[in-house]
Amino acid sequence: TPPSILILPGDGIGPEVMAEVRRVIDWFGANRSLNFEVIEDLVGGAAYDEHGTPLTDDTMAKAQAVDAVLLGAVGGPKYDDLDFSVKPERGLLRLRKEMDLFSNLRPAQCFDALADFSSLKRDVVAGLDIMIVRELTSGIYFGEPRGIIEEGNERVGINTQRYTTSEIVRVARSAFELARRRDGKVCSMEKANVMESGILWREEVQKLRDEEYPDIELSHMYADAGAMQLVRWPKQFDVIVTDNLFGDLLSDAAAMLTGSLGMLPSASLGAPMENGMPKALYEPVHGSAPDIAGQGKANPIACILSFAMALRYSFDQGEEADRLEKAVENALADGARTGDLMGPDGGTPLSTSGMGDAILKALDET
Ligand code: NAI
Ligand code: MG
Repeated sequence: TPPSILILPGDGIGPEVMAEVRRVIDWFGANRSLNFEVIEDLVGGAAYDEHGTPLTDDTMAKAQAVDAVLLGAVGGPKYDDLDFSVKPERGLLRLRKEMDLFSNLRPAQCFDALADFSSLKRDVVAGLDIMIVRELTSGIYFGEPRGIIEEGNERVGINTQRYTTSEIVRVARSAFELARRRDGKVCSMEKANVMESGILWREEVQKLRDEEYPDIELSHMYADAGAMQLVRWPKQFDVIVTDNLFGDLLSDAAAMLTGSLGMLPSASLGAPMENGMPKALYEPVHGSAPDIAGQGKANPIACILSFAMALRYSFDQGEEADRLEKAVENALADGARTGDLMGPDGGTPLSTSGMGDAILKALDET
């Protein structure tokens, strides 16, 4: 049986960008004999409208059963006043939680054609290709105790940073495995100078490297210094592995090295399934962009590059992933631009499907 993909387009521009991914998937079937069993379902506001919940049990079961989930985006002003328990975001959170997706991969890749779009100098970012691995299911966002309490005449807001060895080891392992497919370098970031969890993090990452990944070049950096280095000379990094909080900040900062939100893919990986490949959900970093939804203006590249990540990490098709990324790069080098990739007087931007056309044409030419 062919490998299976569950597509959850979601809300806003989600369905628009996902339509272009469907065309790319069909291209691989027609031209590379790479066939997938694709099923589509609802998530977020779209699921709420139909079923009164942002993710049905039935959809959850499908997500658990397939080889990879591809999600567009969820949310929008229409749903802002809904009760917290049925908000669109809850659909996405449930997927992440029940699939136990502990390793969040956020590449920061700068295509040469877009280097002038970065907030940094061309030299610093042109050709940049780094990967930030963020722990996604533990740490200070989830640790107990938490809450706001009264203490004398003060109120106290409390969160707890807490990591177990197994939580550290599993995300570090995913970073080392990734580095093996890349340049073989991992930099681990924490604040071991002031945090106990940082001390444990550093010890466990080093131990795993020494025992199982001696081929990997591992370095450690305090996360604040790491933030500085990321902006000063990002090309010194290959894979960065860090906790949930630091990863949240560092990956958003790294995102801006490369230009538009419309370019950024992501993957969230969990434990290996029976076939040895990880449970996985792929999604663009951007949201549902209500300001441009329904107008055919959205850049589909973030979602298309998310599918490239699926090819690489869920379907073991690294060469085909390279092919797709190269096609995106070539389309951009040929001048293909959606509105988010041009200045105010850059000419007439391509539509969402126009960008899809340009990428399919570039694929034909590979
Ligand atoms: P957003 O990412 O949707 O939009 C921010 C800005 O970037 C907007 O001006 C938008 O037009 C632009 N933009 C985003 N993606 C683009 C693309 N592919 N092509 C061209 N331009 C693009 O973030 P915002 O506005 O803060 O949130 C809008 C809604 O999306 C909210 O309901 C929010 O909760 C939800 N959201 C959902 C996420 C998800 O599904 N993972 C992530 C972030 C936000
Ligand atoms: Mg963030």
